[in-house]
Parts: sequence; C-alpha cells; structure tokens
Amino acid sequence: MKNLYLILSLILISTATTVAVDLESSPPTVCIIGSGIGGSSVAHFLRNYSSSVIGKIRIFERNVYVGGRTATVTLAGETFEAGASILHPKNYHTLNYTKFLYLSVRRPPSAESDSGFGIWNGREFVFKTLSFNSDLPIIKRLVSFANSVLIFFRYGFSLFRLNKFVDNTVDNFLKYYEDFESRPVFETVEEMLKWSGLYNLTRRTLQEELLDLHFSPRIIEELITVITRINYGQSISISGLAGAVSLAGSDSGVWSVEGGNWQLAAGLINYSNIEMHLDEEVESVSSIEQKYQLNTTKGKSYQCEITVVATPLDEVNIQFLPGISIPERKLQHTYTTFIRGLLNPAYFGLSSVSEVPQLVGTVETPDVPFSSISVLKQHNENDMSYKVFSRKPLDDVLLDQIFSVRNETIKIDWGAYPHYHAPEVFAPFILDGQHLYYVNAFENAASTMETSAVAAENVARLILSRLSGQKPASTVTLKSFGDDAYDVHADL
Ligand SMILES: Cc1cc2nc3c(=O)[nH]c(=O)nc-3n(C[C@H](O)[C@H](O)[C@H](O)COP(=O)(O)OP(=O)(O)OC[C@H]3O[C@@H](n4cnc5c(N)ncnc54)[C@H](O)[C@@H]3O)c2cc1C
Ligand SMILES: *[C@@H]1O[C@H](CO)[C@@H](O)[C@H](O)[C@H]1NC(C)=O
Ligand SMILES: *[C@@H]1O[C@H](CO)[C@@H](O)[C@H](O)[C@H]1NC(C)=O
Ligand SMILES: *[C@@H]1O[C@H](CO)[C@@H](O)[C@H](O)[C@H]1NC(C)=O
Ligand SMILES: *[C@@H]1O[C@H](CO)[C@@H](O)[C@H](O)[C@H]1NC(C)=O
Ligand SMILES: *[C@@H]1O[C@H](CO)[C@@H](O)[C@H](O)[C@H]1NC(C)=O
Ligand SMILES: *[C@@H]1O[C@H](CO)[C@@H](O)[C@H](O)[C@H]1NC(C)=O
Repeated sequence: MKNLYLILSLILISTATTVAVDLESSPPTVCIIGSGIGGSSVAHFLRNYSSSVIGKIRIFERNVYVGGRTATVTLAGETFEAGASILHPKNYHTLNYTKFLYLSVRRPPSAESDSGFGIWNGREFVFKTLSFNSDLPIIKRLVSFANSVLIFFRYGFSLFRLNKFVDNTVDNFLKYYEDFESRPVFETVEEMLKWSGLYNLTRRTLQEELLDLHFSPRIIEELITVITRINYGQSISISGLAGAVSLAGSDSGVWSVEGGNWQLAAGLINYSNIEMHLDEEVESVSSIEQKYQLNTTKGKSYQCEITVVATPLDEVNIQFLPGISIPERKLQHTYTTFIRGLLNPAYFGLSSVSEVPQLVGTVETPDVPFSSISVLKQHNENDMSYKVFSRKPLDDVLLDQIFSVRNETIKIDWGAYPHYHAPEVFAPFILDGQHLYYVNAFENAASTMETSAVAAENVARLILSRLSGQKPASTVTLKSFGDDAYDVHADL
C-alpha cells in the first residue's frame, strides 16, 4: 500500500502540467466547507494519498467547534453523544481512524444489551422483553435466553431473513474498502452504488423490499418500524438502502469513541496540516478565472483552486456564482431531548417506573408524540438520565406528562439526515464540471459517519485523479461538462 501512495504521488506530479487548474509552480489550495467527519476525511485522504500534490488545505466551520453532527452534551455531569452515537464493527474507515489517532473504542455497557425493550403504540406495549436485574451470570443468561424465545415467538423466521438482508447489504458495502486496482474512482453517486450492487435498494422503499423477501407484516410494522424511527426518525417508506443501514445499527458489536465521536474529526484535522477557520461561515463561492473565491461572515475573501462542500446544502445559505442546480431534498429534523429525572409510569398505564422498559420504541401512529425514549444512565432508583427522540419539538406540558421528575432538560434540534424516499435522486459529486465537489451528495444513499468517510475518500481520489488529468480506464463515462471536462482515471 505504501508503495502505491508513492507511485501515485509521482504520477500526479509528472502529469500535473496537463491540468486546467492553473498550478504554475505551487500546488493547488483546497478549501473545504464543513468540519464534520466528511470534511475532515477529505482532508485526511488528500494528505494520506499524496504527499505533495496538494498545497494548503483550509477548512471553514461556522461553529466554534469541529465535528458537526457528532457532538456531546453534558447531563448530570456526564457526557453523552448528542448526534451520531454508534458505529458498526465493519465501519473500517472510522475504526482505522480510531487506531491511527490513538483513541479508544467504547462498547455499550453489557447491561444495555439485555436491558428491557418494549414497543409502545400509544395505548399499550405490544411487545416487551423480560427485564430482571441480577449480577449472577447464570440468571443473566437465562433472562437473555428467555428473551430470545419471546422475540422468536412474536416474529418467527423473519428474524433470520432480517439478518440475511442486513448481512448482504453490509457485504456489498465492503467493496468500498477494496484496493485501488479493483476499485474505480466514481464521478457520480449512481455509478458508485451500481458498482457495489447497492443501487437497486435505493429504487424501492424498505417496505416493498421486505415484503418481496417474504417478511411478515408484523415484523415490518413493529420491530423494523421501531428501528427506522430510532435511527432515521422515519417510517418504513424510506429507501431499502437507508433501511438496511439503519437495521445494521442494531447489529451486535456496535461501538463508539471513548470521550466522544467528535474526536475523530478533530484528530484528522489536527494531523492533516490544516489551516482551520472556526466560527467562520462561508457565504458565497464564486468561480473566477479557474479559481474559487470564498467570502465569509468575517468579511474575508479566500482564493482556492479546489473547493469541497462537506455539508448538506439543503438548509444552508451559500450563494454560488454561477449558480448550481441540484435535486431538491428535505432534511428530516430530529429533536433530541435529554432529561435528568424520572419517567412517569402512569403515562404508560403502569404502576411503577421499574416496569417501564429501558428502551421504549414506538410504531407508526399519530398517537405517539415521540420516536423513542431510552435510559442513558441510572444514577439511582429515582434519578436517571434519558434521551428522547421526536419528529417535533416536545413542549414542557407534554414533557411533564411523560416525566414525573425533571431536574435538567436539554433540547437539540438537528437537521439530522435526508428525508428518504424511493426512488432516490442524487446530486453529483462534481457540482460545476470544474473543481467544485459535493461530498454529501452521497447522503441520499444513507447518512452515517462511515458513509460520509467513504464518500469523502472517493471525493479525495476524484480530486487527485482529475488533477492528474488521466483518461478513464473503464466503464466510467463522463457527461459533458462544457469546455473544461476532465477525465477520470478509473483505476487510480
Ligand atoms: C440525532 C442523530 C443521530 C445520529 N446517529 C448516528 C449514529 O448512531 N451513527 C452514525 O454513524 N451516524 C449517525 N447520524 C448521522 C451522522 O451524524 C452524519 O451522517 C454525519 O455525522 C455527517 O457528517 P458530515 O461531515 O457529512 O456532516 P456534518 O457533521 O453535518 O458537518 C457539516 C459541517 O459543516 C458546517 N457548515 C455548514 N454550512 C457551513 C458554511 N456555510 N460555512 C462553514 N461551515 C458550514 C456545519 O456547521 C457542520 O459542522 C446521526 C445524526 C443525528 C443528527
Ligand atoms: C493513512 O491513514 C491511515 C488511517 O486511515 C493510517 O493508518 C496510515 O498510516 C496513513 N498513511 C499515510 C501514508 O499517511
Ligand atoms: C485499515 O487498516 C488496516 C491495517 O493497517 C489495513 O489493512 C486496511 O486496509 C485499512 N482499511 C481501510 C478501509 O483503510
Ligand atoms: C438491479 O435491477 C436491475 C433491473 O431490474 C437488474 O437487471 C439487476 O440485475 C439488478 N441488480 C442487482 C445487483 O440486483
Ligand atoms: C495533535 O497533533 C500533534 C502532532 O502533530 C500531537 O502531538 C497531539 O497530541 C495532537 N493532539 C490531538 C488532540 O490529537
Ligand atoms: C467577495 O468579496 C470580494 C472582496 O471583498 C468582493 O469583491 C466580491 O464582490 C464578493 N463576492 C460576493 C459574491 O459577494
Ligand atoms: C430533582 O428535583 C427534585 C424536586 O425539585 C428534588 O427533590 C431532587 O432532589 C432533585 N434531584 C436531583 C438528583 O437533583
């Protein structure tokens, strides 16, 4: 691998004179808008894959901190993930970052896996596991076994189909970690998804996909709906791919970064020789004589040969000159409410708090004002930390019905992820046919830290291959982008 990077750098240097970007003697400057895992990954891979082709890298971040949708909150003196909280064991980029940055992997506490789970429909729990706290391993195993039996009785063989559906999707996704020799550079999201065999899953809804695979309506309407509501705040009418990704989030072995997932972005930025511009929002991007001029809220103007947009464009106000056009997309807002206090068992028709499951999932019905409630930490019998997800803000009147004690409340409104549907349409990775790139075009496939990293890695390769101006070597065909069409080197 190391040799390959070296060879790549040499190729890029030796062909650098052929590019339309005016390199003159100095290597091009890259400006990246957004310091989340996407923007930081683009910077990391540009440095990782070439030692001297890229000059200065600037990252602009409108917030005073890096990390974007990975952030922590402090409740009852402890920190919890406020945005992206879990990673899959096969999320290899983020796993490698964690090692590379000497961060530690955190597994959810074992109690969590066997703690009570229930499905609430607004009137009753249609399903509830046994919850029995014991320190005896034998009791734990018995409870866990009894719960497997319970869940099998309710959902039957569809549970095995569920594993297969998720495993197949994950296996296709693993193709994005193949070596450069077998893995092309992709100009569009469609191409990228078709190559791995995932594209078809974006054409149909999760529900259509699962009914075709002979899943029982009950597992779709209950268990699977619960999961899509927790992970994407949406119903089973999301695309099959977003659905599979969301289901993979309930696989065993999920992990997070000890101390907060935001440290991945922070660490990548720290090690990539970046000129970081915090608290500086990009207001406009103008293409002027083969350069981009970025104007920011600090009244400053920056020139760069390459610009990378690493944030969803759906709700931000960046003026592009000349204008760009991308398919309309709506973001799903997820209201995340953190509460220190105690649930009110009467809200659930129960007589004691201990009867309320540690994780309350919900089905698709207008009667339920929240998507899920989970216990983050039990401080003592009458003092807990909870996380509530909802599609709408929860007002205090409602919160006082659901909770009998509320000592601390933190509310966050996330423009969380795309509102998924099928068939999906995708914005291009290259917005203007020149050197304006868009990492979050991939988010219509699925939105996770790892998919951002995978999209970012492809964008970094795309930038390097287009700078080298090499001819496409395979099926990668270029749409005509006017005078300045670049070719893609497909086996970079
Ligand atoms: C509640 C919630 C739960 C989630 N759970 C998970 C999970 O468990 N696992 C998982 O993998 N993923 C999860 N996700 C999804 C995950 O957080 C995102 O897919 C991922 O973090 C996106 O990273 P990004 O870098 O592409 O975008 P972002 O993190 O959104 O980064 C974009 C950055 O750009 C900045 N910005 C925007 N406009 C400008 C501008 N004009 N100038 C300068 N800066 C600008 C923003 O401030 C932001 O920091 C969750 C998301 C939410 C909201
Ligand atoms: C590239 O990044 C990986 C982590 O993603 C790291 O392990 C490796 O050492 C880096 N290589 C170079 C040449 O920077
Ligand atoms: C992760 O690191 C391992 C060991 O260094 C390497 O073999 C593997 O290719 C890396 N994976 C990715 C996706 O970079
Ligand atoms: C996707 O669908 C098309 C058309 O229905 C079909 O020809 C193709 O084989 C499918 N691809 C995969 C990977 O399932
Ligand atoms: C930042 O990078 C330097 C080396 O460049 C390293 O010594 C330091 O520990 C890093 N800090 C963090 C927070 O990663
Ligand atoms: C950006 O700033 C420069 C310098 O102040 C100015 O000339 C230019 O008109 C600005 N561009 C936009 C789109 O506002
Ligand atoms: C929470 O608030 C209640 C009522 O105000 C109070 O009695 C209780 O001690 C508080 N608990 C904690 C842990 O602060």
